[in-house]
Amino acid sequence: MKVSKRTFFRVIAFASVAVVGAIGLVSVDAAAKTNGNAVSSRSLYATHCASCHGSDGRSNTKRGRETEADDISGGISTAKTIRIVKNGKGDMPSFKRKLTAAQITSVARYVATL
Ligand code: HEC
Repeated sequence: MKVSKRTFFRVIAFASVAVVGAIGLVSVDAAAKTNGNAVSSRSLYATHCASCHGSDGRSNTKRGRETEADDISGGISTAKTIRIVKNGKGDMPSFKRKLTAAQITSVARYVATL
């Protein structure tokens, strides 16, 4: 079989498109995973914290007012939130038995973005 120059370059072009496509898929996959983490830290916050602190962290909820929960919007450091979530503070319960260390870190990172 005689492979013309033209066919040869077509094959090369096709292969390059395939490689670029594969790289694209890998990066889309990585982005999806990052979003997955963001969603789960947000849902941890929604499940365990928002009843008092509100979805925006301003603690303007019924339970937030009743317990005089602090406004936690404005970027509290991850280290501080981890400490308080582990130990509890005043009317805020400790989450040491409810959440894993990884979940506490995840929710604390989310609080830092509020
Ligand atoms: C039952 C209501 C309640 C729930 C649920 C709750 N908190 Fe709190 N939180 C409080 C109260 C009340 C305070 C103020 C404690 C004090 O100073 O006496 C507080 C304080 C804090 C503080 C300290 C803010 C500062 O500036 O010192 C952080 C951070 C915090 N909460 C994060 C969280 C996170 C994250 C969750 C979820 C894992 C959570 N809280 C769940 C009631 C709650």
